[in-house]
Amino acid sequence: MSGYEFFTSGAPKQAHESTWKYHLRKLFTTKSFDSFEVEKETSDLKRTLNAFDLIMIGLGGIIGTGILIITGQAAATKAGPAVVISFVISGIAASFAALCYSELSSMIPVAGSAYTYVYATLGELAAWIIGWSLILEYAVGASTIAVGWSAYFVHFFEHFGIKFSPSWTSAPLVFDHSTGYLLRIPDAYINLPAFLLIMFLTFILMLGIRESATVNNIAVTLKVFVILLFVIVGITKINPKNYDPFIPPNEGAFSKFGITGILSASSVVFFAYIGFDSISTTAQETKNPQRNLPIGIITSLVICTILYVAVCVVLTGIVHYPELNDPAPVNVAINAMGMGWLGLIVDFGALAGLISGILVFLMGQPRIFYSMAKDGLFFSIASKIHPKFKTPYISTIITGLICAIISSLLPIGVLAELTSVGTLLAFLLVNIGVLVLRFTAPNAPRKFKVPGGPYLIPIMGALLDLLLLLTATTASLIRLLVWMLIGLVVYFLYGRSHSVANNSNQYMKNKELSG
Ligand code: ALA
Repeated sequence: MSGYEFFTSGAPKQAHESTWKYHLRKLFTTKSFDSFEVEKETSDLKRTLNAFDLIMIGLGGIIGTGILIITGQAAATKAGPAVVISFVISGIAASFAALCYSELSSMIPVAGSAYTYVYATLGELAAWIIGWSLILEYAVGASTIAVGWSAYFVHFFEHFGIKFSPSWTSAPLVFDHSTGYLLRIPDAYINLPAFLLIMFLTFILMLGIRESATVNNIAVTLKVFVILLFVIVGITKINPKNYDPFIPPNEGAFSKFGITGILSASSVVFFAYIGFDSISTTAQETKNPQRNLPIGIITSLVICTILYVAVCVVLTGIVHYPELNDPAPVNVAINAMGMGWLGLIVDFGALAGLISGILVFLMGQPRIFYSMAKDGLFFSIASKIHPKFKTPYISTIITGLICAIISSLLPIGVLAELTSVGTLLAFLLVNIGVLVLRFTAPNAPRKFKVPGGPYLIPIMGALLDLLLLLTATTASLIRLLVWMLIGLVVYFLYGRSHSVANNSNQYMKNKELSG
């Protein structure tokens, strides 16, 4: 294929083709590998990130609310001390996806991450679906962590006797499980700390990726330090009696302990692993991306998995699991050890550390919007790069505003579940994408290949993602479906008619240029 023939099936309607076949073909238009080369070479984004920065971005995105907050609730209500097994199961699902992301990012090092990979493999409609579900991962994910951060912010100041009013520091809406509706909480107005933090980080992200990476590196160092401190101090205080029973017997409902409880907890704690894929959105700002992206993705995930297992073992070893159902389970363990000073340090580390999570997610989303806008599937203004800062500043501001509003209004549970199901859907399609590309582009250069051949990891990964997706709550699956239906309406009203890939004039122009 020649250098300028960007889209493999974006040709105008052929004489022999019926109208419905033509429209169907357009839905499956794929982007060619040559187009990625051109995108890579002509990008206005600045390449400043190295492998170390990428590992730190991975750790920044991965470690956060999941391990600090959700672990305790999953142990107390679903899995008991066996929550460590849940972490291993979702860690395996995440590592399969990470290997697939690594292969694709080494082949297609452009900013759109899973969205772009799927555009190259399964076609435009599937790419749109992924792009739309990545909004759940990144934008809703950033909002989720900001809500968690706000809780730590309030808690931190309580060490000094300063109490903030819940009216201004918590969500004014709550999810009513019995009716499925969101209810207004009287006297709660807005989660102001979450709102203000997101606006502040949006400003830093506009200034430049280097500046953002530096803030991230500091925050990650603090975060990893406090987790290690907790593990090292805590390990000496473990009481083996707390591991008994290791797998509490099932209490009747699917998610209430026993083997099914462990599975159900896996889909909840999966949230803790989300974030490594955001590394791939920085592909166009990375030096030697084909080498550094796989290093960043795999190394950061391995480090996190080890830390997570250690935290679970220590947490459930210090405190008997029913006591961990607390918004700050690590503090419960620290109080049980009678070490107030450690609580202060951990709260500070969590405050600083969660900032990096929000930063990384807020960094990922605009780069997805940017890629989608460049392809014509999203409003073109989102592809604008700031002339001085070289960042996608318009999409950064759009993302910041959306996330600030979401985080100031909604509770953490609803947001975390939505993030997880959106991400699982993206991972599922990325796994399939690897398999498809091994057949449709067998000779494309791959600096990294998933081990074990084209079937083993992609298929096992896809099945695990599907399993975790199906064990999610019905409410979040319904929300995912509604979100996807809205996405399809947007695609058919806007994306389809503006798509560069399916623009016949553009196609003919490219063909002429390529001779
Ligand atoms: N993995 C991220 C967290 O746990 C989303 O906060």
